[in-house]
Amino acid sequence: MENMFQDGKEEVLQAWYMDDSEEDQRLPHHREPKEFVSLEKLAELGIVSWRLNADNYETDENLKKICDARGYSYMDICDVSPEKLPNYEAKIKSFFEEHLHTDEEIRYCLEGSGYFDVRDQNDCWIRVAVKKGGMIVLPAGIYHRFTLDANNYIKAMRLFVGEPVWTPYNRPHDDLAARKDYLGALSKKQVGSLAI
Ligand code: LAC
Ligand code: NI
Repeated sequence: MENMFQDGKEEVLQAWYMDDSEEDQRLPHHREPKEFVSLEKLAELGIVSWRLNADNYETDENLKKICDARGYSYMDICDVSPEKLPNYEAKIKSFFEEHLHTDEEIRYCLEGSGYFDVRDQNDCWIRVAVKKGGMIVLPAGIYHRFTLDANNYIKAMRLFVGEPVWTPYNRPHDDLAARKDYLGALSKKQVGSLAI
């Protein structure tokens, strides 16, 4: 499953190591010189991704295949922009607090774009830029955060296995089983198997 729907993925999913500046979170925050991160490296962290045709999401057989293979039974659509999201400033702030979940975070970008920041094995931030057509799965237990980019808009599908649980556990929450399981799989380099 992880190897399907990979064509042209680099056009909608790109990742790089972040600088340490405190400037606007919506800026790219590249290091100088830029340090891009391969999608294979993301896979080592348990991050699975695909490229789909976002114009077709309502009838897309490929999306259906992913949902069937991974048990995604729930989906909804979330518009994040100053106009469309109630409580926008507070929400944006909370999305950008470093946190983890006890389940996968699955997002499919239908319009617009955004940044998912994830911690690597050495606790450095990797910024994953997702554009229209990019679908990404963050494994349970990975510390991460989200921000809009300078375009200030994303329309994203949220998917879930069963009844959704959106609870963010802000860092530190290292005693949670999901965190321990994730670190265990990471150290055994088995994180990919967790994500299947
Ligand atoms: C979430 C993103 C903000 O938890 O990480 O919905
Ligand atoms: Ni999250």
